[in-house]
Amino acid sequence: MKTAITEMFGIEHPIIQGGMHYVGFAELAGAVSNAGGLGIITGLTQRTPELLAKEIARCHDLTDKPFGVNLTFLPTFSAPPYPEYIAAIREGGVKIAETAGRSPEQYMPALKAAGIKVIHKCTSVRHSLKAEQIGCDAVSVDGFECGGHPGEDDMPNMILLPRAAEELKIPFVASGGMADARSLVAALAMGAAGMNMGTRFIATKEAPVHDNVKKAIVAASELDTRLVMRALRNTERVLKNAGVERLLEIEREKGSKLQISDIHDEVAGVYPKVMIDGDMDAGAWSCGMVVGLIHDIPTVKELIDRIMVDAECLIRDRLTGFLGAESKASLKVA
Ligand SMILES: Cc1cc2nc3c(=O)[nH]c(=O)nc-3n(C[C@H](O)[C@H](O)[C@H](O)COP(=O)(O)O)c2cc1C
Repeated sequence: MKTAITEMFGIEHPIIQGGMHYVGFAELAGAVSNAGGLGIITGLTQRTPELLAKEIARCHDLTDKPFGVNLTFLPTFSAPPYPEYIAAIREGGVKIAETAGRSPEQYMPALKAAGIKVIHKCTSVRHSLKAEQIGCDAVSVDGFECGGHPGEDDMPNMILLPRAAEELKIPFVASGGMADARSLVAALAMGAAGMNMGTRFIATKEAPVHDNVKKAIVAASELDTRLVMRALRNTERVLKNAGVERLLEIEREKGSKLQISDIHDEVAGVYPKVMIDGDMDAGAWSCGMVVGLIHDIPTVKELIDRIMVDAECLIRDRLTGFLGAESKASLKVA
């Protein structure tokens, strides 16, 4: 399948694996890229730029195909050394950056000077337009369904994607709630040039996380995610667990007076406990409503091949099947 996104990134299928903390290691990114999608290494999971450089080198060993690096710009006073992370991306020969969080504006000159294509993750049309204006090559439009940070507008993709299509000139992919061929075809119908998946890629054989995480995703339903940190305007969609119940109890008690320090134990240092140790009650970790659509743990290649084969059948059989032989002619007459 050819779209503006496959052309832009030199990939076979319009499927991107979003950066995921403690999930987006070389194993997963390499597997996605080898299967014809775009794999993404999560930059900040590597604690230093030097470690990121090693992770990039490991990914080059696993695949000859294009892959990218996620750089999440955090709302924090003690920012990570972003220029050095960008240098690691540039020197590692990576030509694609998925940026997220705060606007990448201040880092665009460095990224562009290195010939790096930038796809920025946005949860609103206004942020997408800003990304276009500052020179991003594409955007990943993340609806309210998404795992991670859906922003504060609570705009589901059924509205957000067609609105993005109305306003944007640069190509965009649909992100949040994407799981299968139905998601891809619907995203294309709403104007996207591909899709970005997070949660779905965790439940794959190659995802380098504890089996408990994959099993929890398969066992969960679409009703099992919770929104946390709303009072801090840093809303995150997570999978419910005992740690998250404790967190929500504190949030209910503190109301609008909530401070990040009140929930430190339930949000800080949780990812290694969940992803490496498999402690599923450790606290808040991002997970999308799309868990309700995830029923198996295939290899990445099986997943991507299945999506592309099913998408073709959906388009050729189901969708064109709705069109009567006369419909084109009657439209012309009208
Ligand atoms: C476990 C997990 C960790 C994530 N970590 C990050 C991250 O560090 N940076 C980022 O930009 N997005 C992160 N995301 C968001 C994903 O890249 C993607 O936008 C999101 O998962 C899409 O929604 P979906 O889960 O419904 O597919 C994370 C998502 C998950 C599920």
